[in-house]
Amino acid sequence: MSHRLTTAAGAPVANNQDSLTAGPRGPMLLQDLWHLEKLAHFHREVIPERRMHAKGSGAYGTFTVTGDITRYTRAKVFSQIGKQTELFVRFSTVAGERGAADAERDIRGFAVKMYTEEGNWDLVGNNTPVFFFRDPLKFPDLNKAVKRDPHTNLRSPENNWDFWTGLPEALHQITIVMSDRGIPRGYRHMHGFGSHTYSLINQAGERHYVKFHWVCQQGIENLSDQEAAAVVAGDRESSQRDLLEAIDRGDFPKWKLCVQIMTEEEAQTYRFHPFDLTKVWSKKDFPLIEVGVMELNRNPENYYAEVEQASFAPSNLVPGIGPSPDRMLQSRLFSYADAARYRLGVNHHQIPVNAPRCPVNHYHRDGAMRVDGNFGRTIAYEPNTRGAWQEQPEYAEPVEKLYGDASRWNYREDDSDYFTQPGDLFRLMTPEKQRLLCENTARNIAGVSQHIVDKHIAHCTQADPAYGAGVADAIARQRAGQL
Ligand code: HEM
Repeated sequence: MSHRLTTAAGAPVANNQDSLTAGPRGPMLLQDLWHLEKLAHFHREVIPERRMHAKGSGAYGTFTVTGDITRYTRAKVFSQIGKQTELFVRFSTVAGERGAADAERDIRGFAVKMYTEEGNWDLVGNNTPVFFFRDPLKFPDLNKAVKRDPHTNLRSPENNWDFWTGLPEALHQITIVMSDRGIPRGYRHMHGFGSHTYSLINQAGERHYVKFHWVCQQGIENLSDQEAAAVVAGDRESSQRDLLEAIDRGDFPKWKLCVQIMTEEEAQTYRFHPFDLTKVWSKKDFPLIEVGVMELNRNPENYYAEVEQASFAPSNLVPGIGPSPDRMLQSRLFSYADAARYRLGVNHHQIPVNAPRCPVNHYHRDGAMRVDGNFGRTIAYEPNTRGAWQEQPEYAEPVEKLYGDASRWNYREDDSDYFTQPGDLFRLMTPEKQRLLCENTARNIAGVSQHIVDKHIAHCTQADPAYGAGVADAIARQRAGQL
């Protein structure tokens, strides 16, 4: 590496210590071009943070196929046992800003980008299999409820719980976030979930519905509220440090990829709405099928270039993997690429961490920060008689039957059982974990208006009377200073 300091235009910098002034004690001269360049660049160094999931950590790795699912999908990434695909992962918290502490009680993002030979496949998931609601129209409201209050600029449990309890379907997700799993010890110690239902399409053009699960091989480890407070007091970057140091010392974290498969016929008749993101598919009905393993084995060289500028989009799908009618997923198919156009620019695909590792041929041209030669002399229209790039009909998806009258259908009238699954989850917990869930809830909801607290207890009671009673008791103990 050269030791010669230059300007951005490559000219030598003669002095990087003293600015150009009129005399030793006089004012500065406007012709101190190096000073102007440094300040002007500095002013532009901050890009918008992600609207959600602003704080995160990334790593590169590989996916290796261990199980054959070619009867369900023609996706090349799954074409052969032993096949390896390079990937990049970004883990994150959700509500905190870019400088937030890692060890907060929150959902964790689990976004995987596989650089397949037929384009990038992004599985942009979380460490929970469900979400707070099932209609994406509520997503911006969630953001406002969990972020800072417009008046106080403080994070507000009152706003947070007011919103959550206004949506009874949120109880499943709330139960997970308030449980012992609500604060993973680090990103290496949690499962990941694609959460939504996606489609798999095979060579014969047949569709199956699928859910993806990343099964943690390091063991699940969590922090209690008290442990997390002590961690944050000493280290705000605990998850970043843990991941970085583990990979640096060669202790590469791994997750098994498993799928649950449902036929189109089963989706029509399953006992609850299979595309409802507030519910999980029973593993008894749809057992996990092991497909492969992901290993993270390389740290990024430069955090900003590779992690901050990474962009993931559920719309990055490849032949053999498609969306489902899940309304939430449908909205996300638009949201992420659009957010990236704003945050990083229309040519964000060219940033190396986002760039596909297969040939890319299209008729998009120009736009800010086009840095790849812009396809040179290649014509930019189609149809053409010059033999330029043609569509590939062999990749067309099979017909998907759609039906129904267009309206703003009330999803609660379709399936309003929001309490069986959180109740099942509560009943599955050991008494110790049930106690933790209730006490974590009590600490979190402390200070919130009584009518909101009452609403939450009523929802818990509907899930299981013991859940409601446990939360009420823990809140009483918290108020008596016993927690
Ligand atoms: C980040 C929108 C639901 C996982 C984001 C971002 C937006 C967004 C705008 C910031 C993207 C960026 O600036 O690059 C939405 C909308 C949702 C939704 C509109 C529902 C309608 C979900 C769900 C999951 C999820 C259900 C998980 C299953 C993530 C992850 C990130 C993220 C992991 C961070 C990606 C990264 O590391 O760059 N979301 N989201 N989101 N979201 Fe969502």
